[in-house]
Amino acid sequence: MTTPFQIAQHDFTLIIFGASGSLAKLKIFPSLYQLQLEKRLPVDFRIVGYARTEMSEKEFHEEFSKSVREKFKEMTDEKILAKVLKNVSYVSGQYDSEADFTRLKEHIATIEEKGKFMRLAYFSTPPSVFEAVITQLGRVNFDSQASKLRLIIEKPFGYDLKSAKNLEKVLLSNFDESQLFLLDHYLGKEAVFNLLSLRYANPILTTLIQGAYVRNIQINGLENLGTEGRANYFEHVGSLRDMVQSHLFQILAFLTMDLPEKINSETIHRGKRNLIESLVLKDKKASVVRGQYDGYRKEKDVDPKSDTETFAALRIFIDEMRWHNVPVYLRTGKKMKNQLTSVVIEFKPQALQKLHKDLEPNKLIIQLQPNEKIEFSLLTKMGGSEVNFTPLNTGRPIYCSGDCLDEHGRLLIEAIKGDKMLFLDFPEIYASWGFVDKIIDAFEENEIPLTHYKPGTFGPKESYEMLEQYGHKWHDIV
Ligand code: BG6
Repeated sequence: MTTPFQIAQHDFTLIIFGASGSLAKLKIFPSLYQLQLEKRLPVDFRIVGYARTEMSEKEFHEEFSKSVREKFKEMTDEKILAKVLKNVSYVSGQYDSEADFTRLKEHIATIEEKGKFMRLAYFSTPPSVFEAVITQLGRVNFDSQASKLRLIIEKPFGYDLKSAKNLEKVLLSNFDESQLFLLDHYLGKEAVFNLLSLRYANPILTTLIQGAYVRNIQINGLENLGTEGRANYFEHVGSLRDMVQSHLFQILAFLTMDLPEKINSETIHRGKRNLIESLVLKDKKASVVRGQYDGYRKEKDVDPKSDTETFAALRIFIDEMRWHNVPVYLRTGKKMKNQLTSVVIEFKPQALQKLHKDLEPNKLIIQLQPNEKIEFSLLTKMGGSEVNFTPLNTGRPIYCSGDCLDEHGRLLIEAIKGDKMLFLDFPEIYASWGFVDKIIDAFEENEIPLTHYKPGTFGPKESYEMLEQYGHKWHDIV
């Protein structure tokens, strides 16, 4: 058997800040278990949970195990889980206390037993405490003999351009840029990065995916779930900041950016930033729909008068020759009919479609999750004397049959390797806030009214109307 490429090649100590929170339970603990299961972890590693909640180590182990068993159900390998737990400990403390961080450091020194461990700090806390944690990590030096401390910070990076700049300032006044790993978990999804690989590998796609042939692009980030106990966070953020500014812009960038000749962290970051900087919103009022599902205001931690959007749809353009006049529709929402992250490229009508207006357009559909697949929907003529065309769907699931890991596990390995290609950098984050801030301002000025939709649908009717006025339609996949 060959050695998997995605493997942690260095002994490490991972400190998880916010270890009692939902992100850690939902994503990080199961990913660590999976890394062990697939033999991606080094012989020696330590995982230290840190949070304000007081908990014994035994209780923390129970939480850890519960989250793994919930994810892997009866497939959970108890021996592997026990092997991980042997290396897991817990420290409770405040996020703004130098004394508590010093205690944490002493704890780490004890459990490392003089080994040479690379140390990583994972921010799985609410963003409101990022600054406190950064400041304490800066004060109490956590660098080890093996390396400087690496900080893995998960989005959101600020709340708007101003706060993102402030976050960078706080980070850089305590750490070098080289120590920062800014995580958007969508970049750890194999299918998302594959968008770029597909374009590099297939001249057919490289040729077709450009303005000369494309009528419009649709990117969906639809979830059937609601805020899942995170209303406290979501209420202050909304769908535009939560999903569009980050995940959907990243997908759009991989799909449409100029392909750099060399692929490395710098060229990919530059390519994405250039693309995001070139995004244009032509007519705010006619190009943005904000929606909220019925019943949201009655949920726990939600203001009964809340106008936070749980749905957003945009019509935007890429100000580049290659994409001249091609609308890009982005759509995201909670409590939608089904969960679907997808890209649909609708091709320009050909002579036949111009003659027979009711014919379906040709489409390339890339389903990123769930059930990753690529499908071409091409018109073909039925037999017989009638002019009778029908879409020929040639689809294929994209199985992850190689060296595949969950997003968070994959990205942890990349951070240990020190490769930042699958992380973000601040210039691209600034570019996306620069764009999104203008829409948020319009929300705040009430220039774009809040619309409503029923849970279990594809969002407000206004989102359909937005496309209809331009003669387009959403290609919903159920
Ligand atoms: C997170 C958002 O970044 O992504 C959540 O904060 C959202 O609100 C989640 O539910 C979606 O991620 P995934 O991997 O389930 O598509």
